Amino acid sequence: MQSVNFDEIIDRRGTDCIKWDGFERYFPGLDTKGCLPMWVADSDFFVPSEVKEAIIEKARQGIFGYPDGNARAFNEALINWLDKRHKWCVDANQIVAVPGVVPAIAYAVQAFSREGDGVIIQPPVYYPFKQTILNNKRIVKENTLLFDGETYSINFEDLEKKAKDPRTKLMILCHPHNPVGRVWVEEELRQIGEICTRNDVLIFSDEIHSDLIFKGFKHIPLVKACEEFEKNIITSYAPSKTFNLAGLKTAAVVITDKEILKRFKAQLSINAAQGVNVFGSAAFIAAYSYGERYLEEMLEYIEGNMDFAKEYIEENIKGAKLISPQGTYLGWVNFNDMNLSQEEINKIVIEKAKVLPDLGVWFGENGKGFLRFNFACPRSVVKKALNQIKQAFND
Ligand SMILES: Cc1ncc(COP(=O)(O)O)c(C=O)c1O
Repeated sequence: MQSVNFDEIIDRRGTDCIKWDGFERYFPGLDTKGCLPMWVADSDFFVPSEVKEAIIEKARQGIFGYPDGNARAFNEALINWLDKRHKWCVDANQIVAVPGVVPAIAYAVQAFSREGDGVIIQPPVYYPFKQTILNNKRIVKENTLLFDGETYSINFEDLEKKAKDPRTKLMILCHPHNPVGRVWVEEELRQIGEICTRNDVLIFSDEIHSDLIFKGFKHIPLVKACEEFEKNIITSYAPSKTFNLAGLKTAAVVITDKEILKRFKAQLSINAAQGVNVFGSAAFIAAYSYGERYLEEMLEYIEGNMDFAKEYIEENIKGAKLISPQGTYLGWVNFNDMNLSQEEINKIVIEKAKVLPDLGVWFGENGKGFLRFNFACPRSVVKKALNQIKQAFND
């Protein structure tokens, strides 16, 4: 593998990428012209050389007929990766290829609940969860995370209450959690598994960020933490965050229960959504087969970015604080001690500093006063952005 130079600045403008080219329409009422984009969760790093080569090789074949989405190599790549990284041995027939984690969540919502049923989420959380529930005319049950000013935890009493409601059918767990950066520990996972199973609530464990875990923390797949409840769990993985492949729309779910698996596959069929893209499949296989060193190097780099950002913000941007992340490359920054409204914060950071993060309120009511910064970019860009923000607040 050729090492990737994570310091390299790559000009992504004009490459049909939403992060750099398409942001204006997502921030109505704000002047985003000339902003440095630090929103949306894809990185500004090149993919591993083997992934690029696999795609080029596929392109060279010159024929792009229907792929065999669950081909042996696809399953084997994921099986080996989960075994190596998380000590979870899954079976090939428990894996389903899907065109993305969010689509898989939509199919699970459709398959395992009916209109008017409740689906639990834990805000502040990745906003497509709520949107998917609402789009499918289900009720969003917010098990709001507890925040002590430093870190987030789960309100289990409230979770039990929400799970007990007989109309609640599903919980979507974000593990690790985007945007708060928590890597849930065994005891928390066990409690989630126990409460949901006892109340007949199926869990969709979105583990898309599970490769991105910082030193001192460990990702435990929900299924591994509560093996006796494994039949009540659907787990999703994708190489898209780790290896910057989101545009290839390829992910996988793992379902150990035969009946749940059958119903999930039937829902794919209802939506005519079986199979994945040939390039996505090639990239998925290459990333999970050859991407380990790239991951280790990138992890070191983004953890360095996080450390730098945390220190810089504390020293230079009074009243702002990066919530210490345990994983992911997403920095959740609390501006509430500045005593400014969310609108004022947005205006200063976006219109004055010309830095473009995700807005905290997109993640839920309790995201007010926060902004989410994507730190999967060269360190010099992190420095530039934070310096612009510092100047904007100090002027
Ligand atoms: C928690 C989480 N789930 C899912 C996704 C997107 O998954 P996909 O592009 O496979 O639909 C993201 C992207 O940022 C995410 O953060």
